[in-house]
Amino acid sequence: MKIKGVVSAGKEARVYWGKGGDGKDLAIKIFLTSSAEFRKSIWKYIQGDPRFENIKNVSTHKLMSIWAKKEYSNLKKMYNADISVPRPICVYRNVLVMEFLGEEGVRAPLLKEVYRFQHPDEEKSRRYFSTLIKNVYKMYWYAGLVHGDLSEYNVMIFRETPYIIDVSQAVRIEHPNAHQFLRRDLSNLIRFFSEEIGIDLPSVEEIYRVIISNEMGKIEEL
Ligand SMILES: Nc1ncnc2c1ncn2[C@@H]1O[C@H](COP(=O)(O)OP(=O)(O)OP(=O)(O)O)[C@@H](O)[C@H]1O
Ligand SMILES: [Mg+2]
Repeated sequence: MKIKGVVSAGKEARVYWGKGGDGKDLAIKIFLTSSAEFRKSIWKYIQGDPRFENIKNVSTHKLMSIWAKKEYSNLKKMYNADISVPRPICVYRNVLVMEFLGEEGVRAPLLKEVYRFQHPDEEKSRRYFSTLIKNVYKMYWYAGLVHGDLSEYNVMIFRETPYIIDVSQAVRIEHPNAHQFLRRDLSNLIRFFSEEIGIDLPSVEEIYRVIISNEMGKIEEL
């Protein structure tokens, strides 16, 4: 595996473009630091999750490894549930390797960015929205997870398909805050597509009901 360039240098994680032994493009996400602020912010995702007990006393490095492993395991569950996420490849310590979304080292645009450079028409926008809602539905019913930080900044448009990224904080549906996170995820998507893109959409509550009542048929109608 070779690292070829930097894709994104965020505060808590850095994403690189690399190539595997077979010449395939890879995205390599390295979890770096955990500020006190970050520790506080992830606490609500970890609390109540039996997979991550006793997290208070672990070192920063260990916490980053746990976080990378958590993103990998969430990605795997989502990928296996036929949700559009980058294919997970492997995880080692604080490094997560996954499929690269983009061409020749140039990453695909975020949902937020795609409207700046291209001008998807209403039909395409509706298709993006309904694909995302179907993915949220599958995430809930087939992967047993709620993303928890879904917005136009954590969706990439790759080959005309919306891909959901940044799933380290996703929680199981039994988590005490899962339904609050689900409502917030839906509200972010609805706000973006209605207020910024200008398409007419049902309310958060309506879509939330359709999802949790397990009626895939109604999802198709949205
Ligand atoms: N599989 C991928 N292929 C290509 N680019 C990716 C991939 N995953 C992430 N990226 C790019 O890296 C950025 C950061 O990734 P991600 O959202 O997972 O991390 P983050 O912790 O939110 O970092 P930040 O704080 O910088 O947003 C994304 O906005 C996207 O531009
Ligand atoms: Mg992100």
